[in-house]
Amino acid sequence: TEETLVLVKPDGVARGLTGAILARIEAKGYALVDIKLVEPDREVLEQHYAEHAGKPFYEPLVEFMLSGPSVAIRLAGNRVIEGFRSLAGTTDPTTAAPGTIRGDLGRDWGLKVQQNLVHGSDSPESAARELAIWF
Ligand code: GTP
Ligand code: MG
Repeated sequence: TEETLVLVKPDGVARGLTGAILARIEAKGYALVDIKLVEPDREVLEQHYAEHAGKPFYEPLVEFMLSGPSVAIRLAGNRVIEGFRSLAGTTDPTTAAPGTIRGDLGRDWGLKVQQNLVHGSDSPESAARELAIWF
């Protein structure tokens, strides 16, 4: 078994989709090891998104993540890192596949490209690093 960091981002919390997203995660059989509502400060977000510093979407992304609370989840399961990313769907909800969180619940990206409901760590190294930041 392994662990990953999942975030229900501010758009997911604000739209009241936390429960719907958790239902999909639980239905898949993943275990909630820890869960909390968080209002991260800029420093936490700069650590979390360090790999994106300097990219054009970085500042809007950090601002968006500061716009309201997120739900942080320590999630465990067999190959959960890869599995949750598959459950979440591709980055852009406009084209994410039906059946995925972003494909079914995400809104057309339009100009608000950062609003895609969830985050999931992309590797064991990222998961360890990000879990230490949020928990
Ligand atoms: P996460 O699980 O959130 O990390 O998504 P990801 O791994 O599919 O995307 P990535 O790590 O490349 O980017 C992190 C976040 O930045 C994404 O979830 C989006 O919210 C945002 N993002 C990524 N690419 C773009 C982009 O081209 N434009 C904008 N505005 N935002 C982007
Ligand atoms: Mg990523």
